Amino acid sequence: MMTVNVRASKEYNVEIGDGIISRLGEMTKAVCPKAIKALIVSETNVAALYLDAVKAQLEGAGLEVAAYVFEAGEKSKNINEIAGMWNKMAEAGFTRTDIVVGLGGGVTTDMAGFAAATFLRGIDVIQVPTSLLAMVDASVGGKTGIDIPMGKNQVGAFWQPSLVLEDTSFLKTLPDDVFTEGMGEVTKYAFIMDEKLLDLLEKQNGNIRDDAAVLENVIGMCVADKAEIINEDETDNGRRQILNFGHTAGHVIERDSGFTKPHGICVAKGMGIFMDACVKAGTLSAEDAKRMKDLLAMYKLPASDEITAEDIVKGAMNDKKKRGNTLSVILVNKIGKAEIKKMTAEEFLKFLSV
Ligand code: GLY
Repeated sequence: MMTVNVRASKEYNVEIGDGIISRLGEMTKAVCPKAIKALIVSETNVAALYLDAVKAQLEGAGLEVAAYVFEAGEKSKNINEIAGMWNKMAEAGFTRTDIVVGLGGGVTTDMAGFAAATFLRGIDVIQVPTSLLAMVDASVGGKTGIDIPMGKNQVGAFWQPSLVLEDTSFLKTLPDDVFTEGMGEVTKYAFIMDEKLLDLLEKQNGNIRDDAAVLENVIGMCVADKAEIINEDETDNGRRQILNFGHTAGHVIERDSGFTKPHGICVAKGMGIFMDACVKAGTLSAEDAKRMKDLLAMYKLPASDEITAEDIVKGAMNDKKKRGNTLSVILVNKIGKAEIKKMTAEEFLKFLSV
């Protein structure tokens, strides 16, 4: 078992381990001692597998438990489902010391966090991520929210959890393609800030899934990397933006596919596109680019897409990462070191078109 401590506006632990769901009740009572009621927020696929175990843990700790289960998928990430959660808590007489428990992937942890951030102007949330992507990224750092017709994650709040409990045994039931998607975010940490992680992933030669100790170690390294960034820049005005490596182009590819292409896969494509651009601009060595692209291939991730430079720029200029007339573009010109570069649309197009 591994503990990563996050020291943002709120301090909390991310507990990572094989089978640690058995400690959810005890840990919940420790961080939210005044809670009497808990709302488990989950989706249909995950609830069928793990809702009973999570409910039993919370009830075993003396909590009254209600559940809100929505249809699995990004299309559920909307205000109607959040209103359903608010109503469920209001009907059950939740007070400000009661809690929400998010059980699922990134859609679930984002929505559970947003329901908690807004109900009674904010109650505690405990995140229990069940996908690799949610374990290494979405559940840590307090970004919560929903989609609106104009775009993904356009409405939300920064709301840090009280505890993140990551039971790596949950990943055994994750479909292979969903695990691979999570590797898009895992490799991102290696490229932007963690060459030791890159060494380990290379050594594992495309398989971190079959050895519980390796899996825990890799997830722990990613979470520790993210915690380091959150501790420095919780609200995404500075260094946190490096976590968007691959996302500027990736989000456009994802949106243009009508959200049929998975997020982590689009991030990998976006990282590859930027690696090519940096090599052509002469700022990244061909050796480093090859090493990073080989790693993507090793973990069955793509490194390119047929999208044009014009479409990336057009899409990115409508993104919420845009500030004023410039865009913060994240570059990796040396393995393990990301930089934030402000570019106008013209500069960005030139960078991608060289
Ligand atoms: N997913 C990127 C971040 O948490 O900032």
